[in-house]
Amino acid sequence: MSRRWRLGTAAAVLVSALLAGGAEAQTGASPPGVAKPGVSRAAKPGAARPAASSADTSAAAYGPRFASLCAACHGANGRSDMPGTPSLAGQHGFYAITQLFLFREGRRSNEAMTAVAKTMKDDDMRGFAAVIDALPAVPPAPPATPPDPARMNKARDLAREHKCVFCHGDDLSGGQQVPRIGGQREEYMRETLRGFKSGKRPGYSQAMTEAVSQVSVEDLDLLAYYAARVPVTPGAGAAASAPQAVPPPKR
Ligand code: HEC
Ligand code: HEC
Repeated sequence: MSRRWRLGTAAAVLVSALLAGGAEAQTGASPPGVAKPGVSRAAKPGAARPAASSADTSAAAYGPRFASLCAACHGANGRSDMPGTPSLAGQHGFYAITQLFLFREGRRSNEAMTAVAKTMKDDDMRGFAAVIDALPAVPPAPPATPPDPARMNKARDLAREHKCVFCHGDDLSGGQQVPRIGGQREEYMRETLRGFKSGKRPGYSQAMTEAVSQVSVEDLDLLAYYAARVPVTPGAGAAASAPQAVPPPKR
């Protein structure tokens, strides 16, 4: 069960625009792509659309801005110590840019983050996403009390039953548009999972709304407990797009 989920057709169209960056993104209709080192995004000769910006949106260029604008809440290394504020360490740039876009467009709402994202241009979203993409995963500080084996086992079963691992991976490290949730802050996940269920947090696609619709709030809280405590692996940023060792399930 380690094959990771891919977006459906409609969302895939948006996502390919997102990856490509450039012209389509300038309209604000879809998020800009994340800068990948060595990938040229110059417009084709004679293309009618404006060329993608030539600004430096590399992680190196935006690192200092992350340190001064984001680290106070999200932590200098992306490991957040602030309740309600997610860790960004080990998070995927592709997911991050999508969320920054949702905040900026007012489709995901949070007082602190909406204020931050409102000021961002497309290039800024690319630059910050590149920084986040480059932050290695950092395990949380060991909890004061060890994980309760009974709760962990029950939640592991729930994560299979409700296909959480199908999309987020067996180690919950995610990949591309699916966020890493292994090692994420528990209270943040509890809140955000309840938000998907109540409709307070609309996703970029229907994936999460559908995933949680049949899960009780009690079980969602248990899943947050579990995800916060699974061992943090370096994860799937690159591995998710590489061929999987386990063959996909038969149809
Ligand atoms: C004042 C505190 C604060 C600052 C400063 C801040 N953030 Fe956030 N950020 C938050 C909170 C709180 C959330 C969670 C919002 C929610 O619950 O929906 C968040 C969420 C996010 C997310 C979504 C993460 C996820 O797992 O879904 C990203 C990406 C992000 N912030 C990036 C940034 C970047 C980049 C900066 C700097 C330019 C920044 N943030 C500055 C508080 C902050
Ligand atoms: C069909 C694929 C899919 C399934 C199944 C799925 N997820 Fe997700 N999950 C996603 C995607 C995609 C997102 C990004 C949300 C968006 O659209 O903005 C996400 C987001 C999340 C987040 C928010 C992370 C953050 O940093 O804000 C949590 C927590 C989460 N999922 C937990 C779960 C749990 C627990 C389950 C099982 C009950 C589950 N997911 C099932 C695809 C999936």
